[in-house]
Amino acid sequence: MALRDSYGRSISDLRVSLTDRCNFRCFYCLPNGEPAHACREDVLTFEEIEYLAAIFVSLGITKLRLTGGEPLIRKDVPLLVRKLSGLKPQLEDIALTTNGFDLERHAAALREAGLDRLTVSLDSLDRQRFREITGVDALDRVLNSITTAQDVGFSPIKVNAVIVRGRNDDEIATLASFAREQGVTVRFIEYMPLDSGHGWSKDLVVSGREIRNAIEEAFPLDLIDETRGSSTSWRLRFADGSRGEIGIIAPVTEMFCGQCSRIRLTADGQLRTCLFSTVEHDLRSLLRSGAHSSEIVQFIEEAVEKKEPRHYINDPDFVQPARTMSLIGG
Ligand code: 5AD
Ligand code: SF4
Repeated sequence: MALRDSYGRSISDLRVSLTDRCNFRCFYCLPNGEPAHACREDVLTFEEIEYLAAIFVSLGITKLRLTGGEPLIRKDVPLLVRKLSGLKPQLEDIALTTNGFDLERHAAALREAGLDRLTVSLDSLDRQRFREITGVDALDRVLNSITTAQDVGFSPIKVNAVIVRGRNDDEIATLASFAREQGVTVRFIEYMPLDSGHGWSKDLVVSGREIRNAIEEAFPLDLIDETRGSSTSWRLRFADGSRGEIGIIAPVTEMFCGQCSRIRLTADGQLRTCLFSTVEHDLRSLLRSGAHSSEIVQFIEEAVEKKEPRHYINDPDFVQPARTMSLIGG
């Protein structure tokens, strides 16, 4: 069984946002504070998420990523992970993306509950700069979280760095050396127009090519795979054999929509078939109407069928989606 869209892409990867709330205010996401939250009653309960996840897995989803907002704001996330682990081995992989603020105290429980992989956002290694970017003075907390997560057995940890011209593009080589020192995968991400302040512009995008050049001035790299496959990132290793890895994610300058295998479920139970979707599919209402699982299956299949062919960031009449990354889930 596999979910397929009308362009023949097979959909194997579901991202579930656990909350639209966040305790950070990253300027490329929430520069003006948080937009209105979903009402508490609209947010899916863990039971509902488990129920839907089981259906998605029966339809061929093999990878699940828990995101937010900041997912660890929800209580008892390890409990949810444990329940979702019950969907293995059909479900092959459970991952979590976090800003790392509260990870230190949850890392061990998450590992025990069956979480396979962790991604931590980290855009600067300078304390003051980190505070300017995220609005919170928490660099040390995030660094401690990364070390703790490694200690409890997460390996390799991925570290996401969104690079924005004039903000942190001077730290590209420093972040690459962090990958070497810590033995983590640092993934450099092009700035996308998903910020609540609509401050994005093309000239703030540092291209994947530029990022690679900046790293290679300090540390020559070799491609691990010549193709990206269905993954979004180019994977590179250090030519001198050092530990650590580099990923380059260039959705703006090297569109990879043709290989996209993802769909998303928002915290309030809307199915989104693209980060840049302008329509959502109201799975929550259907679920709460007491629909039979076969109706839910059909609803999901029909939504996937309508998955957008690609994003239009580079088209002159591009319209930024109303929801920010914090509402969609990364
Ligand atoms: N462009 C690129 N990446 C973004 N993220 C959030 N907003 C943006 C944006 N406008 C990233 C975060 C996090 C992941 C979930 O998405 O840094 O690592
Ligand atoms: Fe929060 Fe992530 Fe958005 Fe930063 S990028 S404000 S950590 S949801």
